[in-house]
Amino acid sequence: TEARTILGIETSCDDTAAAVVVEGKLRSNVVASQQATHLRYGGVVPELASRDHQRRIVPVVRQALQEAGLTPRDLDAVAVTYGPGLVGSLLVGLSFAKAFALGLGRPLIGVNHLEGHIYSVFIEPPSPPFPYLCLIVSGGHTQLMRVDEGFRHTLLGRTRDDAAGEAFDKVARLLGLGYPGGPEIDRLARQGDPNFVAFPRPRLEGYDFSFSGLKTAVRYYLDQFSEAERARLLEQHRADLCASFQQAVVDVLIDSLRRAIQDTGLRHVAIVGGVSANSALRAAAQALAEELDVRLYIPPLAYCMDNAAMIAITGYFKARAGLESPLTLAAVPALTV
Ligand code: KG4
Ligand code: ZN
Repeated sequence: TEARTILGIETSCDDTAAAVVVEGKLRSNVVASQQATHLRYGGVVPELASRDHQRRIVPVVRQALQEAGLTPRDLDAVAVTYGPGLVGSLLVGLSFAKAFALGLGRPLIGVNHLEGHIYSVFIEPPSPPFPYLCLIVSGGHTQLMRVDEGFRHTLLGRTRDDAAGEAFDKVARLLGLGYPGGPEIDRLARQGDPNFVAFPRPRLEGYDFSFSGLKTAVRYYLDQFSEAERARLLEQHRADLCASFQQAVVDVLIDSLRRAIQDTGLRHVAIVGGVSANSALRAAAQALAEELDVRLYIPPLAYCMDNAAMIAITGYFKARAGLESPLTLAAVPALTV
């Protein structure tokens, strides 16, 4: 059967999302963010996330179908994230998708959330040809991959400790900013001096990353001041600290990317995941691409953050490759690519 119309569902963390792709084109894309639910806890509370997904999944799917001008019967397959992520969150989307697919008599297509990010550059043109180099930078993951046709991925480097987004969120907390911290640091850093503090730029063997030392360096830097001094420092120099930290992260990512481009000879480079929304990273990557004469692909902001469009498009490719999943598919919280 020719699978033309795919519903994508994503509930791996704190966004309840559904999207419809028809013949490889995005028709609707709905995201219900839970940010307000978790705001006062300074991070995602798993139990609350599951409950929120449970409340929102049906209305979100209904809205995605409505905006696409379709009814459930028009769907050819149901694609859903089955990992990695919070198990209670994954289970809501996965259980819904199974029941929906079963009820409609359509195939279920399990999608790895990281593959969703990898193929997010196919939601809108321009999209890279295979093979391409892909830097995934999100709240949970930081890894560098070679992506070949046919869902073949080769891991070139990964973080040994914190993900880049996690570092942004933890440092934001140290600097007294809200959650998620990445967008806040990005915004403040625009008015800051990136040379205010020389934070370390850890460089590991190969293309591996480490960000926990950088986070600790920010903590140690703040710890040398008394409480009163620190309050004054943050008042006067918060933007400078944001810019200095952000520049260190960007330098580390760009350094690895530069070496990987030079070593692999790949001419097409994608940067995906939440941190690819970062304006300093986008600018530095653009400059690197011009310098090394490679083509750069970074999705529009809406597709950098968690969304279901990337799950629907990946599901569409999988459907065309005949990669369906059994209804016994389990949620895999620590799924890798
Ligand atoms: O891909 P994503 O939405 O969710 C995961 O799969 O993790 O990424 C979320 C992460 C958070 O850590 C958030 O702080 C970070 O992406 N982020 C940013 C920016 N926007 C989101 N980090 C730096 N600069 C940004 N503009
Ligand atoms: Zn993600």
